[in-house]
Amino acid sequence: MLESDESGAQDFLPPPIKHEPVVKKWRNVRPKTRSRRRTNGLSAEQHFKTIGSREQVPLGSVVMARFSSQVALQDNPQGLQVFFSTYFEITMTKTTSRVFNFSAGPATLPKSVLEQIQSEMLSLPGAGSSVLEISHRSQEFDSVLDDAKSRIAQLTNLPETHEVLFLQGGSALQNVMMPMNFLTEKTQTADVIVTGAWGKKTAAEISRFGHLNIAWDGNDSNYNRVPDQSELNLTPNAAYCHLTSNETIHGVKYWDLPETGDVPLLVDKSSDLFSEPIDIARYGLIYACAQKNAGIAGVNVLILKKELLDRCDDRLPSYLDYSKHSKAGSRFNTPPTFAIYVTGLVCKWLQEEMGGLANISKFNQEKASLLYNVIDQSNGFYSGHAAKDSRSIMNVVFTLETEDLESQFLAEATDAGMSSLKGHRSLGGIRASVYNAMPIEGVESLVQFMTDFAQKNG
Ligand SMILES: Cc1ncc(COP(=O)(O)O)c(C=O)c1O
Repeated sequence: MLESDESGAQDFLPPPIKHEPVVKKWRNVRPKTRSRRRTNGLSAEQHFKTIGSREQVPLGSVVMARFSSQVALQDNPQGLQVFFSTYFEITMTKTTSRVFNFSAGPATLPKSVLEQIQSEMLSLPGAGSSVLEISHRSQEFDSVLDDAKSRIAQLTNLPETHEVLFLQGGSALQNVMMPMNFLTEKTQTADVIVTGAWGKKTAAEISRFGHLNIAWDGNDSNYNRVPDQSELNLTPNAAYCHLTSNETIHGVKYWDLPETGDVPLLVDKSSDLFSEPIDIARYGLIYACAQKNAGIAGVNVLILKKELLDRCDDRLPSYLDYSKHSKAGSRFNTPPTFAIYVTGLVCKWLQEEMGGLANISKFNQEKASLLYNVIDQSNGFYSGHAAKDSRSIMNVVFTLETEDLESQFLAEATDAGMSSLKGHRSLGGIRASVYNAMPIEGVESLVQFMTDFAQKNG
């Protein structure tokens, strides 16, 4: 049996639990291939299927069968190992090694946050139970929620005029709640600046509740930039103006907020909240699904200007009324307790280990420029999607000359310990999401890989 290769792995979890092997003996099972095959991205069961078995075998099984040739598969980042000899043996054990995970979301978390979750999993200090097991109305959870809120307030210099809420339902629910709460008359207008796929989704819900004005749409240039102020067709007395500060799919960032006068600015900051210092006073509402830069899936962090709550209409279904959530202190119903706890830990990490938002912003800019430099210096081998002055520092999106080359890039990157680099299905190409928690080593390793890949294939 082969030993797992842990090289390059960031090991901090205990060794994997070894399954009691199920030993199966088959005769005359022939694999579809006799050559070395990639196992990356396939589960053990799937992999076994691809080599020609008629049965699926649970993870941890040892399978023995008579077979005339030799195939060896080993040492891939997922930790699947397959070894065949005349009698071949398959050890389906997944290791707990960590790869550099460039996923756009849910995304990589700081290692120390994962460690703290792990160490407190059985008993939250002082609670005698896991955070997963305590009441959302207990004193212990009060402390968790208050801690998360106050850390957000400290990080963002939250003014008195605004408050923090934790909601569920992701941006999908916000796309409905915003017009329901703030377009109180059918005749009122919401302006939307569409700089990518997420803004488009926001716009799509508005006409049910009032008038939609697309103040600008980047469709003509395939959403590769944000507009100048002079290009915006804003409605002077709009109920609000919406934009997405970082379009995660297109890798486009709104660096300077537009001037909207008295019209409140409502902003989807799902993929860049906490990535840099923020002037909260400029916003009517900020919302961010936490699973990218602020924690895990399940909670939406909202920062809301309190005076907007006066606009919420009593006729709204209670759950969809911001003022009800505000009055209930984010406990209108059972909140996503674990997700709120993780957001608190991420904020603590930002404060205590990363030195706050000004520091993390420098760090993020440094990481993104390393990647954009490779793109810019590749003589066209890599083409960045976003125009230079609209480039995101969270999602670096680029293409290679052909889809085949992109597939090869992705497969080799996975082999080299870098996962989830595939671009969004609507845009294709490659997307490296380098949120706050992506360590510099991850970016350096991608930079080295991209440089070598261009040299070999350019
Ligand atoms: C900018 C932006 N908004 C919203 C979402 C997701 O919203 P939801 O939580 O509704 O899936 C994403 C990504 O998943 C995003 O990148």
